[in-house]
Amino acid sequence: MVGLGPRRQPSRKGSMADVPDDLLEQIRYLERIFTVDQAKLKEVTKHFIKELEKGLSVEGGSIPMNPTWVMGFPDGYETGSYLALDMGGTNLRVCEIILLEEKGEFDIIQSKYRMPDELKTGESEELWEYIADCIQQFIEYHHEVEDLEKLDKIPLGFTFSFPATQTYIDNGVLQRWTKGFDISGVEGKDVAPLFEAAIAKRKLPIRLSALINDTTGTLIASAYTDDTMKIGCIFGTGCNAAYMENCGSVPKIASYNLPPDMPIAINCEYGAFDNEHYVLPRTPYDIVIDEDSPRPGQQAFEKMIAGLYLGELFRLVLVDLHDNKSCKVFQGQDISKLRKAYTLDSSFLSMIEEDPFENLSETGDLFRRELGITTNKPELELCRRLAELIGTRAARLSACGVAAICTKKNIKSCHVGADGSVFNKYPHFKARGAVALREILDWEKGQKDPISILAAEDGSGVGAALIAALTIKRVKEGNLAGIRNVEGMI
Ligand code: BGC
Repeated sequence: MVGLGPRRQPSRKGSMADVPDDLLEQIRYLERIFTVDQAKLKEVTKHFIKELEKGLSVEGGSIPMNPTWVMGFPDGYETGSYLALDMGGTNLRVCEIILLEEKGEFDIIQSKYRMPDELKTGESEELWEYIADCIQQFIEYHHEVEDLEKLDKIPLGFTFSFPATQTYIDNGVLQRWTKGFDISGVEGKDVAPLFEAAIAKRKLPIRLSALINDTTGTLIASAYTDDTMKIGCIFGTGCNAAYMENCGSVPKIASYNLPPDMPIAINCEYGAFDNEHYVLPRTPYDIVIDEDSPRPGQQAFEKMIAGLYLGELFRLVLVDLHDNKSCKVFQGQDISKLRKAYTLDSSFLSMIEEDPFENLSETGDLFRRELGITTNKPELELCRRLAELIGTRAARLSACGVAAICTKKNIKSCHVGADGSVFNKYPHFKARGAVALREILDWEKGQKDPISILAAEDGSGVGAALIAALTIKRVKEGNLAGIRNVEGMI
C-alpha cells in the first residue's frame, strides 16, 4: 500500500484489514489487558481517595503524603535573587532566578548538565561531588568574581524529586530511590548535610533555604501566575502530584499544634499508589517491569504510567510475541537489540503514534534504524496499536490521581498545573487524560471541563526560587513551622 500522506487521528482501529488472524488474536488480547474502562477508572479512583486519607493519618499507608513545610501560596509580589538546583531524573539543572517587582514576573538564566547513567547507580560521594561541580561551574561562569568567598550567600532551593521525609523545610530523609536510581548510602539519610558538605568543601556562596519536590515547585510556580491552580503534577520520567491541605486535616502532624486552617503543601508521592496490588489492572508485563526493577514492590502506579516505563512495556510485549506466542512477529530476524532492557524510551512510542502515513512508513524506518528490524505491514499495525494502548492506558490512569485529589478536597472546578516529558511531548496524552477525567467525574455532556490539566510554569526552577522566597518571608513574619535555624534563613 502506498502512503497517503499526513493525516491526523488518534487511533487507527479500523486499519486491521490486512492483518492475519494469528496476529489479530494477539492484538485483541493486548486490547483486553491494556484497556481501562470507565468502571475500572472509577474503582481505581475510589480506592485512591481512601489511600490519600490513609497517608495523611498517623498509621500511614502506601502513599507517603509527605508534609513539605511550604505553608501557603505566593501572592505574586515575591522578589529577590535565588539559585535553584533541579535534580529530577534525566538531567541536572542549575538556575538563577530573579523575581521581579511586577506581579508574577521573573528573569531566569540556566544551564543543563547531563546526569551520567553511571552516577545514577554509583556511590553517594560521587553524586554530591558532581552536583557541587556543576553549581561551581555555573556560579563561576555567571558571576565574574575572582574569589567566590567574597560573594554574599545566595539562597538556594534544591528540587530533589524523590520521596523524602521532611521535619524541616530545608532537610529531607530519602525514603527510597525511584525512577531507576540506585545510589548506595543515601536511602534513610538526610540529603541536606550531604549536599551542604560538598558545597562547603568548595566554599561556594550558597545557603540551602528549601528542599523541595518537583510537584510542590510546580504547584507553587503555577499558582504564581494563575490563582485557580490547585494541584501540581508531574507526568514525566516519574509521576506524582502535590496540593495544598489544611494542617487540621493532617493527623500525622497534630503534635506540632499548628492552626487547623493553616495551609501546608503535601507532596503525595502517589507513584506508590497500590503497592499492595489491590486494584490496579496489572498485566504480566507490568509484573516483569516491577520484578526486574531495582526496587520491586515499590511505585506500582508509577511503573504503569511514567515515561521511564512506557518504552520498556512496549519492548517486553514485542519480545514475548516473538518468542512465545503462536503468531509470527519479526520471524527469522535478529532481535538482539530489542532484547536489551530499557533500550526504548517513551519517545520511541511517541514517534510511532505520530507517524502520519497510512502505510506507517516512518515506523518502519524507525525499527530499521534503531533496532535493525525489517517490519511488514501487519507487524507495523500491531506496533501502532500497541503504542496506542500503552499511551492511552498511561493517560487514563494518570487522571485517577487528579480525580482522587479533587474529590477528596471537594474541588469542583480548578486548573491543574502539569509538567514532564510525557505530558508535554507524548501525543494525545492531554486529550486522553481529559476524556478519562470526564468519565470519572461524570461531567454532563456538552459541559465545558470544569477541571483542566494545563502546562505548568517551571516548577523545579521558578517554583524552587519562589519557595525559598516564601520561606524567608514567613520566617521574617514569625511563622516558624518547619524552620530549623532562624538565623541561617534570613
Ligand atoms: C518521585 C517523585 C517525583 C516524581 C516526578 C517520582 O519517582 O518519587 O518525588 O515527584 O517521580 O519526578
